Amino acid sequence: MLLSRIIGHRGNASQAPENTLASIRKAHEAGAQWVEIDVVLLGDGNLVIHHDQSLRRCTNGKGRLLRNNLETIRKLDAGSWFSPDFAGERIPTLVEALTLIQELGLGLNLEIKMHRHAVKALVEPVIATLREHWKDNDKLILSSFSHEALLQCHALAPEFRLGHLFEKLPRNWLSRARDVKAVTIHVDCKRLREARAREVIAEGYELYCYTVNKPEVAEKLWCWGVKGIFTDRPQDFVG
Ligand code: G3P
Ligand code: MG
Repeated sequence: MLLSRIIGHRGNASQAPENTLASIRKAHEAGAQWVEIDVVLLGDGNLVIHHDQSLRRCTNGKGRLLRNNLETIRKLDAGSWFSPDFAGERIPTLVEALTLIQELGLGLNLEIKMHRHAVKALVEPVIATLREHWKDNDKLILSSFSHEALLQCHALAPEFRLGHLFEKLPRNWLSRARDVKAVTIHVDCKRLREARAREVIAEGYELYCYTVNKPEVAEKLWCWGVKGIFTDRPQDFVG
């Protein structure tokens, strides 16, 4: 298996504020062996871990993430919105997240989030940071909804394995996956049907589904041959 069966989505988004170091620790405590987190580029060229384009939902700031530099981002509280127990939690830098994930011995699915910037501007620093700070490529998969970003990743760093992300599997999924030399396919479980799942598997790809929080949905997916799930609730699936 290229990833693990149970992957903590945004860390452990049910037990800590998503995409924070606390969330990664909670995924590990829950027994997850891999985590998925989202990397984005700030206006000043720094890379941080965050899902939304806006700061509103997951911090005490507002406006667009990209309009800020690292100094202002680091002053924000990214924990209190979830619970007072996490007050003062910060948006992590990519380097901080990579360091902690490796300290904990976890595998990483790094999702590259394109938010209105040039593909190269994001992909180049992501690759450079991984080359400098990530040690075991067998415990790493890069993924993106952006075909362009994946093409760029493959061109710049063929040593990193790629997963092609889709919401609904498009008709031309196979040519898109081949184009970027993807090794895994990641799809939204709500948009997947059994026949399409079996088609992906028959073509030799490992199939992973997001976001699966109900055991009965996971059971159905295992029957279809899905290899792993991204879940906000790893504690319900591990052990
Ligand atoms: O990588 C799986 C999943 O995280 C993709 O969707 O919106 O949760 O980043 P999203
Ligand atoms: Mg994601």
